[in-house]
Amino acid sequence: MRAVVVDRPGDLDQLKIQDLPEPNLRAGEVLVDVAYGACNWGDIQKRQGIYPDPVVYPTILGGEVSGYVRRRGPGVEALEVGQPVAALTGRDMLRGFADKVAIPHEFIIPLPPSMDIRAAAAFPVASLTAFHLLHTAHQIRQGEAILIHAIGGAVGLALTQLARQAGAHIIGTVGTKAKAQRPLEYGAHRVITRDTEDFVAAVMEETDGRGADLVIDSLGADILPRSFDALRPFGRVINIGEAAGEPDFPIRKKLYERSTSLSGFELIHAEPGSLRWQSAVQEIVAIIEQGQLQMPIAREFLLEDIRDAQAYLEDRGASGKVLIKVGNKQ
Ligand SMILES: NC(=O)c1ccc[n+]([C@@H]2O[C@H](COP(=O)([O-])OP(=O)(O)OC[C@H]3O[C@@H](n4cnc5c(N)ncnc54)[C@H](OP(=O)(O)O)[C@@H]3O)[C@@H](O)[C@H]2O)c1
Repeated sequence: MRAVVVDRPGDLDQLKIQDLPEPNLRAGEVLVDVAYGACNWGDIQKRQGIYPDPVVYPTILGGEVSGYVRRRGPGVEALEVGQPVAALTGRDMLRGFADKVAIPHEFIIPLPPSMDIRAAAAFPVASLTAFHLLHTAHQIRQGEAILIHAIGGAVGLALTQLARQAGAHIIGTVGTKAKAQRPLEYGAHRVITRDTEDFVAAVMEETDGRGADLVIDSLGADILPRSFDALRPFGRVINIGEAAGEPDFPIRKKLYERSTSLSGFELIHAEPGSLRWQSAVQEIVAIIEQGQLQMPIAREFLLEDIRDAQAYLEDRGASGKVLIKVGNKQ
């Protein structure tokens, strides 16, 4: 089978299509014929060797897929062969950019027959991240002011829609003006371009000088300390990534300026397979079916063009999900 392999971390040239044997299926796993993979910022970090969790190389990239159940491993009874599914590919979110992938059954999301298999690849990571940020890590309430960095990206767009449904007041930042349009369409109240506007001043203006209740910071670097400046007293930053680089500032001093707090967030800690995970999945699938949650597809690439796909995401032009077409057989 074809697979996107990274032998050792580095630049885009490290992404190679190789012909590998099919994965062995262990107890509790499901073999999936991959129809589409979806790109995440974490895939770029894994290729570059800067992902926060250790990755053993060589590895196959790809943490999010849609496709069809090909075989069930021992102990898996709930799924039918041929059934359409979407999934995170496991705790390490690897091995999905391949013709076939073995996935622990608790990560599998059975799809309603009406859901398009292409659209299905685009929703799991962004929607579940947004859901658990707002309703598990935080308990978002009507009227809360929330600042979302990189609001035009996949996670940002899912956060916008779910936060709007919860009645929040949404302010966002983008790197380029073109990425402001979608979040505004999805219900953000104000989106600013970080290079030309001061986001702290914008938040203060939008909140009559009070500051935001919550900041979702996926950028880190020199942006994270300023995220605290945008908070109200006792407000909270949840850090979900470091796309702009590792931050380096005196955190204790920052927290004491207005009695704010900092939380980390990893989607995997919402425990795939738990009741909490299952009920979030059901709610997300239901609101997608009702047309209340959209995940735009920024662009689609063939598996062989994985370098172009990662370059496109890395260049920060994508507003929505970048998909990898693998196969489409049922
Ligand atoms: N912790 C978790 O469980 C979890 C789960 C999913 C995703 N994430 C994180 O959430 C973020 C969004 O993920 P995504 O897959 O939806 O990606 P995305 O938002 O589509 O892409 C990442 C965005 O980060 C911004 N960015 C990248 N490099 C930057 C730089 N050098 N300086 C400033 N901004 C930069 C860009 O947005 P602008 O051009 O608009 O600035 C870029 O579009 C990523 O940081 C990802 O690692 C975390």
